[in-house]
Amino acid sequence: MLERVLSSRRATPVSDDGDEAGDESKTRKHISVATRVTNYVIRTGHLWPCLLIGLVIVLVTSFVYHTRDLVCISASSSDHLSRLRFFGFEGLETDFGSLGVPWCRTKHDRTVEWTTKDLIKGLEEFVPIYETRPIKNNMYGMGFDHSFGLWFITRWLKPELMIESGAFKGHSTWVLRQAMPDTRIISLTPRHPEKYLKKGPAYVDENCTYFAGKDFVDFGNVDWGKVMKKHGIKDRSQVLVFFDDHQNELKRLKQALKAGFRHLVFEDNYDTGTGDHYSFRQMCDQFYIRGGGHSCIKDSDEGRIRARRKKFWEKAVDIDELCGPGEAWWGVRGQMRDDFNHSNKAISYAEHFKNSRFVESVLDVYWELPPVAGPSLTHQTRYDPARASSPIVEDGRVTEV
Ligand SMILES: C[S@@+](CC[C@H](N)C(=O)[O-])C[C@H]1O[C@@H](n2cnc3c(N)ncnc32)[C@H](O)[C@@H]1O
Repeated sequence: MLERVLSSRRATPVSDDGDEAGDESKTRKHISVATRVTNYVIRTGHLWPCLLIGLVIVLVTSFVYHTRDLVCISASSSDHLSRLRFFGFEGLETDFGSLGVPWCRTKHDRTVEWTTKDLIKGLEEFVPIYETRPIKNNMYGMGFDHSFGLWFITRWLKPELMIESGAFKGHSTWVLRQAMPDTRIISLTPRHPEKYLKKGPAYVDENCTYFAGKDFVDFGNVDWGKVMKKHGIKDRSQVLVFFDDHQNELKRLKQALKAGFRHLVFEDNYDTGTGDHYSFRQMCDQFYIRGGGHSCIKDSDEGRIRARRKKFWEKAVDIDELCGPGEAWWGVRGQMRDDFNHSNKAISYAEHFKNSRFVESVLDVYWELPPVAGPSLTHQTRYDPARASSPIVEDGRVTEV
């Protein structure tokens, strides 16, 4: 049995002056992970609540190749049980995904190679690695779940080069390094992580080319031909690009395609009506998705369910929050947000729909990391499970092994 710590991420944008508020994460939750035999069992220790906004990987057919915040509020057990009972779920049952989970369609309906079993095996391996992380308080950056997802995907794909856009204090650089100990990293981030070392823990990698500080260049403006040549990369499909820079993900997708990259991982797959940038989830939230294509009528079934869930889940989105002028529900109230909510553009539903069609025309594979554990273990009361797929581990049982 492993006694371990899981943590998650605060969904608030981070400024380059983001500071350490002590080295004890507010975003941590403690759980015991009992693994293996026929089941992997998680037993509750002292739990801090957390669920996530997704980490998503997309594999795209490149045009070039012509071929791809958590503020954690503790819930007492009785609160938690009454919430489950209110929704009619007792014991192990939950209502994950009951309001639909936007999922991007792909060209050939392909999916990832890995299974839940692989994820569980990966979790066992990753937990002790995560405990050695140099930045214990990564508020505004990645927590346990997404660190695991990034590590897992990277290790599975074994890229020849890793590119990261948005490093903050360097936690995700460290995660990439744990996955691929000898592989070169290129990190694009306005403030060099070494600057954070003056104030507290940060991670600077020795085998990383930093485009940071005065050398910072935005991903979309890099001369990738030159950079790939310099790093001896002939096949750009062997490069993994990780975006955690709070930019419009459609913009990043197009820039990555133009540069010939195929393996893209996006942090912060914000749900419709939330977040500071246009995300894959938002783009793919369409009428043909279960729970997609929303109704702005308060007295509709969806309106009533959303209003009810708002009472239990702090980040649940009700109709007032979801819908803007003219009943615009797509994106964030009809806006395509970009650059930490600093640069937004109104889009019509037709444009939004066109975006989703574009995305599905280029994607080979789309996969969103499920939450590692559900609220019956984490006691989180912030994110609404109704918009998340079933967790990898839930109350001592493993889903879909
Ligand atoms: C949420 S933080 C990244 C967290 C980090 N990946 C981690 O795991 O701790 C977002 C980072 O993106 C950086 N950023 C802002 N604009 C950017 C841009 N255009 N390109 C790359 N990074 C950017 C911010 O300075 C900040 O360091």
